[in-house]
Amino acid sequence: MAEPLLALRNVETYYGPVLAIQGISLEVREASIVALLGSNGAGKSTVLKSISGFVEPQKGTIRFAGQDLPGHEPDAIVGLGLSHVPEEREVFPFLSVRENLLMGAFTRRDRDAVRADLERMYGLFPILRERLDQPALSLSGGEQQVLAIARALMASPKLLLLDEPSLGLSPRLVGEIFTVIRRINGESGTTILLVEQNAGKALEVAEYAYVIEVGRIVMEGSARDLADKPDIREFYLGLKEQGVRSVRRWKRKKLWR
Ligand SMILES: Nc1ncnc2c1ncn2[C@@H]1O[C@H](COP(=O)(O)OP(=O)(O)O)[C@@H](O)[C@H]1O
Ligand SMILES: [Mg+2]
Repeated sequence: MAEPLLALRNVETYYGPVLAIQGISLEVREASIVALLGSNGAGKSTVLKSISGFVEPQKGTIRFAGQDLPGHEPDAIVGLGLSHVPEEREVFPFLSVRENLLMGAFTRRDRDAVRADLERMYGLFPILRERLDQPALSLSGGEQQVLAIARALMASPKLLLLDEPSLGLSPRLVGEIFTVIRRINGESGTTILLVEQNAGKALEVAEYAYVIEVGRIVMEGSARDLADKPDIREFYLGLKEQGVRSVRRWKRKKLWR
């Protein structure tokens, strides 16, 4: 088997004295979508930040496209073909939508391809074409999220790290975001590592998934197998219908082994 596009082995990351993730090992095969699920504070964002160089792991190895990542600066990591859309949906507020998109292509010299990708973004996200010349700050939260994803894609990444892309969006936009995630992967073969609390949607688009709790991976498997597991169904998929009570029940039963 070919080496996976991304492989983490025993990665440990601290914030000061606080151990945020420990012994994280995971793999992402080229052209696949892998989901990383877990509740608030589990360490999902720290995994993504450790990969993209925003925080530096104290232990472990991270291999991406045949290179060891730790030690590279975030900008250099973008140049290697890895784009991270953080939870905070960073856009340049005073730049127009179009300028934001062009900023995403800052590592590229292939101007014609950049222009073609701009068109591709307007096709994927028609709302951006309508707002081309408006400053990013005039967009709604959902539209800014779309812009942040499109800007990351303008770097033409091999691997896209998406941190809770559906968070805080209207149900219609959530549907659109997941459709777009599928299209990005299907049309250009972009590999995606997707962090989500919306486990139902994530397991629909992903091929494989990892569940992380308190900084450790407690479960992994094909998305189909995980979607059928009673613990996942109850804790992650049933949360909305059943409310907080199911979490308490889950904790009492201590289902993770
Ligand atoms: N900048 C930070 N400083 C100190 N602790 C942090 C920081 N960011 C996250 N943490 C802690 O690390 C743990 C994992 O956080 P995070 O990776 O953001 O979780 P998730 O994305 O799954 O919600 C949490 O306990 C959180 O409080
Ligand atoms: Mg997070």
